[in-house]
Amino acid sequence: MCGIVGYVGKNKAIYSLIKGLKTLEYRGYDSAGVALIQNGEIISIKDKGRIDHLENILEYDKFTGNIGIAHTRWATHGIPSKENAHPHIDQNHHFAVVHNGILENYLELKDFLCKEGFSFSSQTDTEVVPVLMEYYYQKDKDVIKAFQHTLKDLRGSYGILIITPLLPDTILVAKNNSPLVIGKGCDGIYVASDVPAILQYTNYFYFLEDGQKAIIHDDVITFYDSKFHEISKQSKKIDWEMDAIDKNGYEDYMLKEIHEQPEAFKNTLNGIISAHEPIHFLEFSLDKKYLEQLKQIYIVACGTAMHAGLVGKYAIERLCRIPVIVEVASEFRYQDPILDEQTLCIFISQSGETADTIAALKLARERKAKTIAISNVFESSITREAKYTIYTHAGPEIAVASTKAYIAQVGIMVSLALYMKEVLEGVNDEIIALKRDIIEIPRLMEEVFKNEDMFKELAHRMSKETDLFYIGRGNDYHTAMEGSLKLKEISYIHSEAYPAGELKHGPIALIDKGTYVFGILTDAQVYEKTFSNLEEVKSRGANIILVTNQDIKGDNVITIPNIDPILSPILAIIPLQFIAYYIAKEKGLDVDKPRNLAKSVTVE
Ligand code: F6R
Repeated sequence: MCGIVGYVGKNKAIYSLIKGLKTLEYRGYDSAGVALIQNGEIISIKDKGRIDHLENILEYDKFTGNIGIAHTRWATHGIPSKENAHPHIDQNHHFAVVHNGILENYLELKDFLCKEGFSFSSQTDTEVVPVLMEYYYQKDKDVIKAFQHTLKDLRGSYGILIITPLLPDTILVAKNNSPLVIGKGCDGIYVASDVPAILQYTNYFYFLEDGQKAIIHDDVITFYDSKFHEISKQSKKIDWEMDAIDKNGYEDYMLKEIHEQPEAFKNTLNGIISAHEPIHFLEFSLDKKYLEQLKQIYIVACGTAMHAGLVGKYAIERLCRIPVIVEVASEFRYQDPILDEQTLCIFISQSGETADTIAALKLARERKAKTIAISNVFESSITREAKYTIYTHAGPEIAVASTKAYIAQVGIMVSLALYMKEVLEGVNDEIIALKRDIIEIPRLMEEVFKNEDMFKELAHRMSKETDLFYIGRGNDYHTAMEGSLKLKEISYIHSEAYPAGELKHGPIALIDKGTYVFGILTDAQVYEKTFSNLEEVKSRGANIILVTNQDIKGDNVITIPNIDPILSPILAIIPLQFIAYYIAKEKGLDVDKPRNLAKSVTVE
């Protein structure tokens, strides 16, 4: 969702601000803007639309200041428009503000400020921030005091940057439930809502925690806790290389990230799985006694991460016989879940910033459950809330549609299941065989990649369709769900995933002559049953595309390597990712930035 960048230093701010915003494009947005301090005043430009458009209308020559803030907005309060775009500036032009998050009490504050004689020009919640700053500034003529009072009044989530000609070399920074990082480069200090935006300037970052603030003055950063007491903070090193956020010759990030999956999987499981050593997680251990008394496990996540959770459930239940409930984070919270010390709650989030997942995690902690976060982003909010964190090392995922992070999440979930089995039973042949399969997976993925031309050709045939179906049983149903989500989010084609046996209880009425149905068939135990369901739709005129590791011949058969059904989603999803990608390309769509979607969903 909204992206934030700030800079103060020796250089002209505009270049790093625009560059940073471009790197954050993947977060999803509908308008963009910048504000700088120069010649003792705020200069700003903003509009609805893409950053390219902002660049077209801004005259670089006029934006010469060395301090500035910038923003990409994903509309929450008020339509996408120039007025609602950030930065927001008070009527006296003293404070320019960019904000990510939602201010829950903005109506109350707005009402109060209107009564005090202030006016507003947008429908946003954010605009109360510069106006409140001005309100308090008028009282004491002290910017820092105004900052303190303003923050005290805000309720909700925020990552906020404020600049003012009253302190012309200063950026005021505040964070609460919305990500913000600060990096010190050779020629200035950078702030952003996400590491990639400023990765080219430094590998060392300060991660603000909720309630913390920073005042950046020239090249000095002073940190404060929630009570505004000065604190010291250590920077942390992020080892991502710059080329991890380049397209590296690929047309789109999504295509690049699909191809990076073998590497992402290998890096994630490096040090966790080896053929002859016991499985171990650097970050934590679970003992036998704890696992034996465990009543149940919850896996909580959203979207693709939730699908990885379903594959985890399959693995844990089959291997460990511990009951697992997988819940969508936005539902978990409102179901009054039954949790206690004998419940283990696992939260999966690529970004680590998904508001629903974070809220669900907080609830689990309140109710005394043990919590594990699985995240791809170092020091993200979810990792700070959970008792333990396991990182997926998929590298930065830029395309909105998740691919390599999903593969890495599945890798962690399966390894966790194997780990629990090993703790409970000691090493046995089943564990050894599965470990061997896991080690082989990167090579097997490369085998699947060899059929990319076939996937492209199938996509070409399907690109004019309006409805597609995906069916499977067991873990194949989980793959069907993920395949269907990939397709709809980037190609805008309606699609449904069903458990194969469920079709005849209703959805089969939708199958018409020529309807495409993907059948996922990788589990020999349910193979014949699913095959019968496919025959049922075929006899109603459907075109079947099979994704299978069984020995089946035919035109529309995508053959993938045979592997244990616990692991088969990792290979079976690849053709579906490619097909979704190539269908979207055929339709001329912006694959990396699908409409209405944001990479990081930081509002509930
Ligand atoms: C789909 C997709 C989303 C995310 C979901 C959760 O391709 O990317 O469904 O999986 O928004 O995001 P994270 O994992 O960041 O919590």
